[in-house]
Amino acid sequence: MNSATDAAPLTPAPGPTLFGQPRGLATLFLTEMWERFTYYGIQAVLILFMVAAVSRGGLGLDDKTSSSIFGLFLGSTYLLGLLGGWIADRLLGAQRAVISGGILIAAGSVLLAIGNHAIFFLGLLVNAMGVGLLKPNVSAIVASLYPEGGARRDAGFSIFYMGINIGGALGSFFVPLCAAAFGWRVGFALPALFMTLGVAQFLWTRSYLGAAGLQPAHERRGSWTPVVVFLAAVAVIVILALTRIVTLDAAVLVRAASWGYGLLALAYFVYLLFFAGLTAAERKRALVMVALFVASATFWAGYYQQGGSFNLFAERYTDRHIFGWEMPAGVLQAVNPFFVITLAGVFAALWIALGKRGRDPVASTKFGVALIFLGLGFLVMYFAAQHVLAGQLVLPTWLVLTYFLHTCGELCLSPVGLSYMSKLAPQRFVGQAMGVWFLSLALGGNLAGVLTGQYDASHLESLPGLFLKIFWYGVIVGAVMLLLTPLVKKLMAGVH
Ligand code: PHE
Repeated sequence: MNSATDAAPLTPAPGPTLFGQPRGLATLFLTEMWERFTYYGIQAVLILFMVAAVSRGGLGLDDKTSSSIFGLFLGSTYLLGLLGGWIADRLLGAQRAVISGGILIAAGSVLLAIGNHAIFFLGLLVNAMGVGLLKPNVSAIVASLYPEGGARRDAGFSIFYMGINIGGALGSFFVPLCAAAFGWRVGFALPALFMTLGVAQFLWTRSYLGAAGLQPAHERRGSWTPVVVFLAAVAVIVILALTRIVTLDAAVLVRAASWGYGLLALAYFVYLLFFAGLTAAERKRALVMVALFVASATFWAGYYQQGGSFNLFAERYTDRHIFGWEMPAGVLQAVNPFFVITLAGVFAALWIALGKRGRDPVASTKFGVALIFLGLGFLVMYFAAQHVLAGQLVLPTWLVLTYFLHTCGELCLSPVGLSYMSKLAPQRFVGQAMGVWFLSLALGGNLAGVLTGQYDASHLESLPGLFLKIFWYGVIVGAVMLLLTPLVKKLMAGVH
């Protein structure tokens, strides 16, 4: 338990309730549901749209460029989450950050729906900025609806988590479906429409949030200067690219970004371990943070093949005919959020049952198991790819089985990752723990694009090769995490 929770007052904030939860939770639930609808809806068709031939309404880009743009998009949504958190904390307050983020997402989605190439990429950028402003801050408001913390807050977050996945399932289902039936543009218009409704709903029912997230949380206000400098730098790059004064090569950029994220993490950990004046006990826990960071980035790099290589696999190599109707490939992206919705309760019950026996696994065990699940999913896909190599189309059940295994992995790692990081960070650095977690997601998302780019459709053997490689990454890093468990238990000294 961290100090913020310990110090919190013990009475719930007054105000209207719905089913025993603050009424404001419904506002946030719907906002985040529509935001995830857009995020996962776009992700479900993004790579397919980019690789689709111009004659089929797509961008006609090659696989490698498309994979790289896919990775850059995912990575930047999480990296910008760091900036979005800072802007809310120091400048805008979470509520205004959510509103601005929602508006940017809706505007970005309009650009996706209308534009080719330059405008489309600008749309992705605007979208990523919107996600960065909205996503971390809507969760922060959920937390501040329950100043008393405890079980009621946990229940609130569980409900909120359902909103995330209902949105993800609906978006991944309907966006590809509409794109196939009415054209890509209509597919991208759905996110624009529903994010607009989400923002309208937020504004309409905002009063239920009371003071939660109304003001910047940090007593020391920031200055707009760094934000303006950042935006100016982005604007200059965009203008140079639009006017073709510089040509941006996505494949180079995605690699550079991976190095950038990795070096940023390295620099942070070197600072934390050697220059932040930590006590011996704090330093040991910071070492555990490093291990969790590596495990998390590895996990997401594999997990995000969903929208990348798996999505291409579904499109090119699966037989998706159901009673004469051909299901659009992107629709399979709804399988993961569906499994999350159905399995989240099972995993939660499992942790509680183990906890009651005093056997709740430590962080490294959960992360290790998550990575083994990830690896097993890739082993399944390796065998599926062998059939493809032999010239057959395969059933989507291979992907469904892999998504099942990956969801099991996700449920071991994702719900606890951030809280472990916060508990392990020295108390005065707790705020930065969220940054470390987001950075691991950014690196993972970005690497997912790099990995997808290693599959080359003209050399089909690269496909099982890629899946086998990620299988090994998963099981090796997973096994190391499991082997580290006794050490981690010692290093964590009293953190649960
Ligand atoms: N799918 C959930 C969400 O979008 C959980 C998650 C978070 C999964 C971050 C992957 C990365 O919030």
